[in-house]
Amino acid sequence: MRQQRVYLDNHATTPVDPRVFNAMAPFFTEIYGNPASKNHSFGSEAKAAVDIARRQVAVLIGAQPKEIIFTSGATESNNLAIKGVDETAAAGGAAERNHIVTLATEHKAVLDPCRRLESSGFAVTYLPVRENGLVDLEELYTAVHGQTLLVTVMHANNEIGVIQPLAEIGAFCRQKGIVFHVDAAQSIGKVPVDVSAMNIDLLSISAHKVYGPKGIGALFVRSGKPSLELRPQMDGGGHERGLRAGTLPTPLIVGLGLACELAGREMESEAATVGGLRQMLLDGITAGLDQVSINGDMEQRLPGNLNLTFKDVEAESLLQRIPHIALSTGSACTTANLEPSHVLKALGLPHEAALSSVRFGLGRFTTREEVEIVIEAVVAAVKSLRASSLIPNFS
Ligand SMILES: Cc1ncc(COP(=O)(O)O)c(C=O)c1O
Repeated sequence: MRQQRVYLDNHATTPVDPRVFNAMAPFFTEIYGNPASKNHSFGSEAKAAVDIARRQVAVLIGAQPKEIIFTSGATESNNLAIKGVDETAAAGGAAERNHIVTLATEHKAVLDPCRRLESSGFAVTYLPVRENGLVDLEELYTAVHGQTLLVTVMHANNEIGVIQPLAEIGAFCRQKGIVFHVDAAQSIGKVPVDVSAMNIDLLSISAHKVYGPKGIGALFVRSGKPSLELRPQMDGGGHERGLRAGTLPTPLIVGLGLACELAGREMESEAATVGGLRQMLLDGITAGLDQVSINGDMEQRLPGNLNLTFKDVEAESLLQRIPHIALSTGSACTTANLEPSHVLKALGLPHEAALSSVRFGLGRFTTREEVEIVIEAVVAAVKSLRASSLIPNFS
């Protein structure tokens, strides 16, 4: 008998909402003009759709439409934000400001651009986090100094779902004249974001984490005072206020726009439903198993995220036992060894505990029945692994 598949990996990606898919469809075959074609109606009808989408994205985060720059996703937005500010420093004659502050628990799409800048002479402070995954604000305040150009802190963590105190960090950065960038790939449409209230200068968005299509995202670039200039990372065409060259992918942009509008409208009720299902999942697993611990703060957290350590169980072996259930470990295979997630290590988890941890990502389309299936499968698999191997082989 084929087991019913369940998708609980919504931090990796989400399915496209059918409403989003239907809205995109005509822009492949009927309304296919280039939005940059100014002298015919094929172009202007595509441009009108792009304008609507730009407004939909802006409304979700409390921005103005002209502050939204379309990119291919959050990775590109992070690169443009972090490296673009770097070049501004050089271009604006502020070369002495060559220090960046970020978190040890950031996504690679922030850590790697920071490392790249280190190789060109920047100093980067990778702040540790507390045991609950949240930044210690006092540590952040003391890490900043006169040479600090940029603070880049993620909103919600992609492994443990914890939500950083952006408003406090934003107020501090604004007062100090430091550029504040936020990777909001995981939080957009799940929890409220307001770039004005939070004093955010740059904010990265990805459509495929919020029931939109893959391959499209945006960077919010604050306009007005204090002034903020970014240097584009690609040359050619001058699209998107000269910040991101390339023909705009109208169908994808329409999808991102509607995904943002739907998320804004449904965020509150969806958070309540998804949060309830997460509680059901946690209750079910802890009722069936002992020696299960939660990673990350449970209050400041995305409603759909759960990250659990199953003592004495290799997470990779657990996932192999239940391939019909989509879950994730944050581990990475490097050469012959399995490397535990850098996020769990930053929480202070011992090596074995980090390799015994699993991420559950619930989403808009998760049902009670699916949660029941997952509880049953996980409890059975953990029990069987614990029974079969008293000493796991963590290599
Ligand atoms: C926190 C975070 N930042 C950035 C990214 C990269 O997003 P994209 O796939 O849109 O490039 C991801 C996706 O895994 C993420 O979770």
